[in-house]
Amino acid sequence: MDIKQSKILILDYGSQYTQLIARRVREADVYCEIYAWDADSEDIKAFDPNGIILSGGPESVHMAGAPTLNKVILDMNVPILGVCYGMQLLNVHFGGEVEGSDEKEFGYAEVNVTGESDLFKTLDHKQLDVWMSHGDKVKSLGSVFNATANTTSTPFAACQHKELPIYGVQFHPEVEHTKDGREILAQFVHKVCGCEKLWKTDNIIDTHVDNIRSLVGEEKVLLGLSGGVDSSVVAALMHKAIGKQLVCVFVDTGLLRHNEGDDVMTVMAEKMDINVIRVNAQERYYEALKGESDPEKKRKIIGELFIRIFEKEARDLDGIQWLAQGTIYPDVIESAGAKTGKAHVIKSHHNVGGLPEDLELKLIEPLKDLFKDEVRQLGVNLGLAAELVHRHPFPGPGLGVRILGEIKAEYADILARADHIFIQELRNHDLYHKTSQAFAVFLPVKSVGVVGDARRYEYVIALRAVETIDFMTARWAHLPYEFIDLVSRRIINEIAQVSRVVYDVSSKPPATIEWE
Ligand code: XMP
Repeated sequence: MDIKQSKILILDYGSQYTQLIARRVREADVYCEIYAWDADSEDIKAFDPNGIILSGGPESVHMAGAPTLNKVILDMNVPILGVCYGMQLLNVHFGGEVEGSDEKEFGYAEVNVTGESDLFKTLDHKQLDVWMSHGDKVKSLGSVFNATANTTSTPFAACQHKELPIYGVQFHPEVEHTKDGREILAQFVHKVCGCEKLWKTDNIIDTHVDNIRSLVGEEKVLLGLSGGVDSSVVAALMHKAIGKQLVCVFVDTGLLRHNEGDDVMTVMAEKMDINVIRVNAQERYYEALKGESDPEKKRKIIGELFIRIFEKEARDLDGIQWLAQGTIYPDVIESAGAKTGKAHVIKSHHNVGGLPEDLELKLIEPLKDLFKDEVRQLGVNLGLAAELVHRHPFPGPGLGVRILGEIKAEYADILARADHIFIQELRNHDLYHKTSQAFAVFLPVKSVGVVGDARRYEYVIALRAVETIDFMTARWAHLPYEFIDLVSRRIINEIAQVSRVVYDVSSKPPATIEWE
């Protein structure tokens, strides 16, 4: 079965929601890819999609140098759906007018379905709660279009070509706040484009397993396990495909979460019977980091030491031909955008860099066409615990950026214990998944406390919890006072070296999520 046989192409005009469109299409069990709006026409044709979606974008169609419509897509005889900026482009192309505006319509709007529309015909109501985010709007429709929906502020909230399967919506069906958005997009991909539901987790696993087997054959593959979601899922998938031909190296840096080293070994090596070599490098890390308190230098030391250790393991192992990496689709989109300079927001990647080329390993990236939520689902279907698969993100340098200033083994131990209490209680109180990332931070300053009659002069732990969608901006989580009180008391009572707990109430920006 070719699970990419039915597919949608999304042309990205720079909207912050473009990846959401792709995720909605995939949730409808249909494969899709995102290309930049000015992708090569030959590449677009070669992809041979069953339908094309034009995303929204921050520009105005009237601006000099604004992204344009690639006419080639109109000759491909496939359905087209323009979202927001995409709808405006289609209208301008067909002789309509788009009106500039300094004011943005942003947020909820009520849309009335007024005409016959292929997109809305499965809905049993005519009033839709939608999410708008636009400045410009269509002033007059291209003559080939009929209006199919309006709002109080525009008669053209959606349109449909009179003869061809070409559609536009001014609102954003891809965002969660548009209540019928999933259904509208599903209707487009299934009914209008005729895509089959082939992109399902079990099919994805079977196909990826086949692909890995035919690529790797009898050869051996090396994988760096970090304890994080992506590398764990790569391990589970590769293990299913090639069993003991996979060798994992897990470096315990001494900067991992509480018990993480042992947990990784229990889950991966014992329960899943995966080949894992554990390298206990805690002392080497503390030694290398001694006396260093500059955050960027700490990051560099941690990253470089990892590469050196991993490289040594790779050289010591016999007959390894491949290196597996946990690259996922958003990384691919991001680095493509970074290369062409087209990405509007490029999240800085602080991850551990590549390995020296003289290792001469061939690269295999089995998750590189998957979004994070798909990776998680794959992990669950492959038998990884939901708790592991749905963990908060954890930075590459680990506790190294959560111990302010110089790193010492003693500090890492205190921090890991405090962090564990915080996370455990978040889980107990059903708050873990209400925050996007939560952790403790070690402050190497001593503060006075009193226990019984004795004064204590001990360290400070800060608790950090944020809510965010994209980690570019974040709001501090408004956890209940009683909960913070409980965590604070547990940390101070159970960890003798801590006399004070504080809660971080800074949002990003201007603060960052991590403290270093
Ligand atoms: P900041 O602190 O920049 O964090 O607001 C945003 C997200 O990135 C993670 N982060 C890192 N991840 N290596 C990583 O792999 C790093 O050096 C690093 N620094 C920050 C952070 O945990 C948050 O999810």
